[in-house]
Amino acid sequence: MTNPSPTVARTFSGIQPSGAPHIGNDLGAIRNYVRLQDEFEAIYCIVDYHALTSTHDPDRMRRQTREMAAALLALGLDPDRCTLFVQSHRPEHTELAWLLTTVTPVSWLERTPTYKEKRLNQPDDINHGLLTYPVLQAADIVMYKATTVPVGKDQAAHLELSREIVRAFNNRYGPTFPEPQAVFTEAPVVLGTDGVRKMSKSLNNTIEIFAPEEEIRRQVMSMVTDTQRILRTDPGRPEVCNVCQLQRFFGTDYLQLWDGERTARTGCVDMKRLLADRIIRHYAEARERYAELMAHPGRVDGILEAGADRLRPMAAATMTEVREKMGLR
Ligand code: AMP
Ligand code: TRP
Repeated sequence: MTNPSPTVARTFSGIQPSGAPHIGNDLGAIRNYVRLQDEFEAIYCIVDYHALTSTHDPDRMRRQTREMAAALLALGLDPDRCTLFVQSHRPEHTELAWLLTTVTPVSWLERTPTYKEKRLNQPDDINHGLLTYPVLQAADIVMYKATTVPVGKDQAAHLELSREIVRAFNNRYGPTFPEPQAVFTEAPVVLGTDGVRKMSKSLNNTIEIFAPEEEIRRQVMSMVTDTQRILRTDPGRPEVCNVCQLQRFFGTDYLQLWDGERTARTGCVDMKRLLADRIIRHYAEARERYAELMAHPGRVDGILEAGADRLRPMAAATMTEVREKMGLR
C-alpha cells in the first residue's frame, strides 16, 4: 500500500511546549498558522519529543504542553479547520525519525547552527537528541507529506536539512516524499527587548502574550530603543529602533508615528507606552479565550486527543509505505 501525495496541499508546523508564547512566536510563525488554515489542509503539532532535549521536568512538560495548546487555540487555531495534536500521541514519529537517521550523514547534523548553539547554551547536557533533533523534525513533516511549513527564520536551516533528508531518502528508495518549503511572515525575525538578539525565551528578552498586563507593560518599557538618541530633542531613527519596527504590526498609522520620531515630536517613552497599550489591546480577546480554555482543561485535552486520532490513518499509511520500501516487511 502506498500513501500518495495529498491532492489538497498540506501544511505542517511544530512548536515546542517551552513556556508561554511571546510576540516573536506570533508575528514570526503563529500568524501564518492561522492564515494557512483557510488555504491548506493544516496540521499543527506541539513537539514534546523535541522539548525533551532541553526540559527534563515531567510536571512542567505536561503543564506547558497544555498551556501551549490553549495558547494556539486562543490565538486562532480552529479545531474545525486544522488538526492540532501532541507529537508523542503519534509515536510513529519516533519510528520514522529512526528510519530517516539511516539516510542522514552525521556531518550534516554536526554542522547545524542550532546544534552548535545548544552545545554552548547547555554544555552539561549535550544529549544525543540535540544532534538528531532535525531528523525528528523532518519525520514530523514528511509523515503527512506536507509541502508548506510556516516557521520563523531561525528554522530556515532545519528546513533546508529536511529537504536534504527527503532527497537522500528518495534517492535511495525511490520517490516517496515531497520536498517541504518554509514560508515566512512579514516578520521572520523579531528582535527581543534588548534590540539586538532575536526574541527568545532562553535569552530572557521576550514580550509575553499571556502574561499579566503589568508584566507586558514592564517588558515593553524595558525595551532598548535607538541607542544614538540621547536627548529627548534628538531626532529618532525608526529604521533602527525596535519599538518603531514593532509598531508596524500593531496599527496602520506607523508611518505617522515614525515621522513623529524623526522630528522629535515624540520621545521613546511615549512610543513605548503606546506600543504597550496596543499590544495589550491587540491580544485582549486572545487573553480572554486563553483564560477560558485554561479553566476547562478537559476541553483542551479533548481537542488534542481528537487531533491525534484523526491523523492515525495517515501516519499508518506512511509507515506501511516506508517499511515496505526499506525492506522491513
Ligand atoms: P519555538 O518556540 O522555538 O518552538 O518557536 C516556535 C516558532 O516561532 C518557530 O517557527 C520559530 O521559528 C518562531 N520564532 C521563535 N522566535 C522567533 C522570533 N524571535 N522571531 C520570529 N519567529 C520566531
Ligand atoms: N524545531 C522547531 C522549533 O524549534 C519545532 C519543530 C519541530 C518544527 N518539528 C517541526 C517546525 C516541523 C516545523 C516543522 O521551533
